[in-house]
Amino acid sequence: MANDELAIGLRAVHHSPYTLVTRAVARSLERMTEAGDVAMRIIVTGGAGFIGSHTCERLVEAAHETLVIDDLSSGVPSNLASVSDRLEFEQLDIRDRARLRRAVAAWRPEAILHLAAIVSAPLSIEEPLQTASVNLCGSLELLEAARLAAVRRVVAASSAAVYGPEPALPSRETDSPMPVSPYAAQKLALEQHLAVYSAVYGLQTLALRYFNVYGPRQLPTNPYSGVISILLDCLMNGRPFPVNGDGAQTRDYVSVFDVALINQRALEAPSLPHQVINVGCGISSSLHDLIVVAESCLGQRPEIAFRPARLGDIPHSRASIERLRELIDATTLRPVAKGLCDLLHGRVVG
Ligand code: UD1
Repeated sequence: MANDELAIGLRAVHHSPYTLVTRAVARSLERMTEAGDVAMRIIVTGGAGFIGSHTCERLVEAAHETLVIDDLSSGVPSNLASVSDRLEFEQLDIRDRARLRRAVAAWRPEAILHLAAIVSAPLSIEEPLQTASVNLCGSLELLEAARLAAVRRVVAASSAAVYGPEPALPSRETDSPMPVSPYAAQKLALEQHLAVYSAVYGLQTLALRYFNVYGPRQLPTNPYSGVISILLDCLMNGRPFPVNGDGAQTRDYVSVFDVALINQRALEAPSLPHQVINVGCGISSSLHDLIVVAESCLGQRPEIAFRPARLGDIPHSRASIERLRELIDATTLRPVAKGLCDLLHGRVVG
């Protein structure tokens, strides 16, 4: 793995804490973002993953001093290729208490975006302890490291999974959660710890409940991959698109480019009370809707292979985005028809 990192020019961090601090401080002095704000020092855990890497690109473009912490268990260094010379990288498992605390204390970030997780509800059902070890205990290690280093804000990834099998439509952050997988329970417990760290220790915390995120770098290769990545893969390789059930199930699909912007705003926003915020578009689309978009974009109807409904699949999901509007102008969120069409035409623009 070390060779791979070197190959794409990632500057792995192997310096003393003192070197890191002085370099970070020196580099951020007098630096301003495009918007005229003072650039921040930021840590992104899981920064080499799908959502993390898109977010890091935005943060670096905005002149924030960014350290990625990632154990590369699912993320890959090549995701960061376009910004590898403009951020720091440390390969680190967030459960490694001593190294994590050293890295956070040395970087002295104003804010941390915590994305590192094992992101799979089905896997969490097979491996409840292994996933809890990362998603719950690892997250607590991160919160403790942040507290001890007097970090101002932690923004962490949660999931629409916390709403459970029969969510209200649209789902509001104040709805009673109903986790039915260890993954959902782990994310809900993380949200509650964020609230506690805010109330007890004064850490500014935000939990972002991501709905169905799609976009470039989402791998279609495992059984739990997002359906849009699977649709694209089928179209590119001339395979029929497998539709589970009747295809009428709906989801709130949100582009990873919009999610990256929302993450950035959550890190930059002026002081906020602890909040849970849905991250979706507030629009439901069925699999048939996606197929119609693909057909109108490509001028050809994709071949479909129906198969039995997936066990435990929820019929419908849609976010209330009232709170999200406090972070961004929701009219800029791209509808899935546009996001999917851009992907089909290879227009991958942030
Ligand atoms: C999503 C999240 C998951 C989270 C859950 C919470 C993604 C990738 N997954 O799962 O982490 O726990 O919301 O509600 O965002 N489908 C097909 N054919 C395929 C693949 C999927 O028909 O080849 C169907 C599924 O059965 C489902 C829909 O497409 O009805 C969306 O599936 P998927 O992208 O896996 O997302 P969720 O199941 O909503």
